[in-house]
Amino acid sequence: MRVLDTTFARGFIRMADDGWRQGWHECHGGNLSYRLAKEEVKAVEDDLRRERGWTPLSVQAGELAGDHFLVTGSGKFMRNMTLYPSDSFGMIEISDAGDAYRIVWGLTGGGLPTSELAAHLMNQAVKKRKSGGACRVIYHAHPGNIIALSFVLPMKDEIFTRELWEMEPECAMTFPAGMGVIPWMVPGTSEIGELTCRMMEEYDVVLWAQHGIFTAGETFDSAFGLTHTVEKAAEMLMKVISAGGKRNVPSAQDFRDMAEVFGLDLPERFLYEK
Ligand code: 13P
Ligand code: ZN
Repeated sequence: MRVLDTTFARGFIRMADDGWRQGWHECHGGNLSYRLAKEEVKAVEDDLRRERGWTPLSVQAGELAGDHFLVTGSGKFMRNMTLYPSDSFGMIEISDAGDAYRIVWGLTGGGLPTSELAAHLMNQAVKKRKSGGACRVIYHAHPGNIIALSFVLPMKDEIFTRELWEMEPECAMTFPAGMGVIPWMVPGTSEIGELTCRMMEEYDVVLWAQHGIFTAGETFDSAFGLTHTVEKAAEMLMKVISAGGKRNVPSAQDFRDMAEVFGLDLPERFLYEK
């Protein structure tokens, strides 16, 4: 079977294109990775070429040894994913020692995996372990409103989480564990990857101040839906702030009541009295 005929490759392309249409991927902004199931690798084996040399990884990815990922290419535009898929993304294999990767499909124009590969692999490793293998998608996007909020709100997990939860009930339901926030750091480094994956132990969404967000999901739908929910809440919050600020706001007790009805486990540290 050809990679491009699979459900997982179609889902990958659709998600990248959806993100582009939302306006989250100016120029080559953002990147996406998907960890294949063993059966998915087997199904496309005839379409893979295992001839290229190994490239050392800047991080140790022992938990991902032998895994295969679809990854967007560095400098590639999400806008081109539907038109030129095999040039815009590729499939990589992680070595048995977890210390190197090689391209086994795609990136046909000679491209390389995203410059955020270290962050993707570290986050993939944390989520694979935490979810017992269920989590497969890591997504990095540049949505304008959540980035704008990182200029005006204090950079604290508790404040971002609570301010966004207050925007609509869907928020606490979609990210009940809350969200993590990281102050401005140089992108593409293993340092920002390490800090992000430490936060991914607890959260499914992490904001990089003045840059963008990382989200994790079991499926393309869940990772995209989480990104969309955070960005929509951020858009509403920007409008509310611009209109003079919040006047009618759900209380901490309102959240506790909702948690009881919907069986949510909302950490008390986000339900402080204001
Ligand atoms: P890449 O084109 O290397 O994926 O980089 C885009 C980006 O958003 C970096 O943070
Ligand atoms: Zn970025």
